[in-house]
Amino acid sequence: MIQPPGPALVMGAGAVGCWVGGRLQAAGAPVQFVGRPSVLEELRLAGLTLTDLDGRRTHLAPHTLSLHAEVPHAGHGPSPAAPAPALVLLCVKAGATAEAAALLGLHLRAGTPVLSLQNGIGNPAVAAAAAPALQVIPGMVGFNVVRASPGHWHRGTWGELAAQAHPALEPWRPVFAAAGLPLALHADLRPVQWGKLLLNLNNPVNALSGLPLKRQLLDRNLRVVMAALIDEALAALAAHGIRPAKLAALPPRLMPAGLRLPTWLFKLAARSSLRIDDQARTSMADDVARGRPTEIDALCGEVVRLARAAGLPAPCNEWMLDRLSRPQPGRMSGKELRAALGV
Ligand SMILES: NC(=O)c1ccc[n+]([C@@H]2O[C@H](COP(=O)([O-])OP(=O)(O)OC[C@H]3O[C@@H](n4cnc5c(N)ncnc54)[C@H](OP(=O)(O)O)[C@@H]3O)[C@@H](O)[C@H]2O)c1
Repeated sequence: MIQPPGPALVMGAGAVGCWVGGRLQAAGAPVQFVGRPSVLEELRLAGLTLTDLDGRRTHLAPHTLSLHAEVPHAGHGPSPAAPAPALVLLCVKAGATAEAAALLGLHLRAGTPVLSLQNGIGNPAVAAAAAPALQVIPGMVGFNVVRASPGHWHRGTWGELAAQAHPALEPWRPVFAAAGLPLALHADLRPVQWGKLLLNLNNPVNALSGLPLKRQLLDRNLRVVMAALIDEALAALAAHGIRPAKLAALPPRLMPAGLRLPTWLFKLAARSSLRIDDQARTSMADDVARGRPTEIDALCGEVVRLARAAGLPAPCNEWMLDRLSRPQPGRMSGKELRAALGV
């Protein structure tokens, strides 16, 4: 059995937190889950069930789960509430980052490594500013997880787990590998984060379409909208000399042309990227359906800021930023979206 250097703490027991934390626990690592009372109640009653698109199923019984409504106090004072975590997985949405990191900073030992498993570019910097005594490490989750039913989380696509290379992560690599989540370490994660952000520009398109991911990607009008968002991002990245990493079937510079192909050709060119569960949706679609704030500012907002800094226009990303910032963005067909964006 592989020995982790100590417990892992999931900050934000939701889709990513429950999936990654659950896999680590199934591989033998002690894991503390910090989450909202409603999610903890589900886990207390049903335990944690993880499934994936290959039909694998893991169940962790309720009594095996270490569930916390608040970050357990570790390290200060005579009687810590739980063993000090050796690694924190920061798994909250972008808007909750500063508050979650501040709570971690308040309760955990100085120097505790915090791996941000969040989308976008700016979350690690936000977390580091809110908890300067902790070591925040950027990470990237390349796959999709959705809540299937109470206590049940389903991984609907393939994709890797990556992080900025850091000595604190070295002892965890065998643990992640044993959990079936090999952690790819990069000397500079920025190109990988931007490569992921380009793919995430599909999130607002998916959310507005109201369709499952696979059906949405097989609609050429919706792909043309995604291509327009990526075009603007690629221009802004080029202006700043940033080369996004290839995370999909096509290299980033060919993605817009690939997306604009007729659907029968797209199916051939993007065969591996279309290995998606029929029911998979983006978490932004989930947020819109539940009336929650979206992470649009961490995606299209990031492109708009990068473009502005280079004196470039990014009208399609601006439109999406405005639309998905509304409390009820509504649904639109591919044709309606193309007309609204003029693409
Ligand atoms: N889901 C995916 O497939 C996927 C894939 C790759 C990357 N990501 C990224 O991973 C990050 C997490 O996404 P997710 O889909 O896992 O989100 P999620 O399902 O909403 O999970 C986050 C959970 O953390 C809770 N939370 C927020 N602040 C907290 C606090 N201070 N204490 C305790 N719990 C707190 C949230 O509660 P509230 O809702 O009440 O705030 C929510 O239950 C995002 O940046 C997302 O873009 C997601």
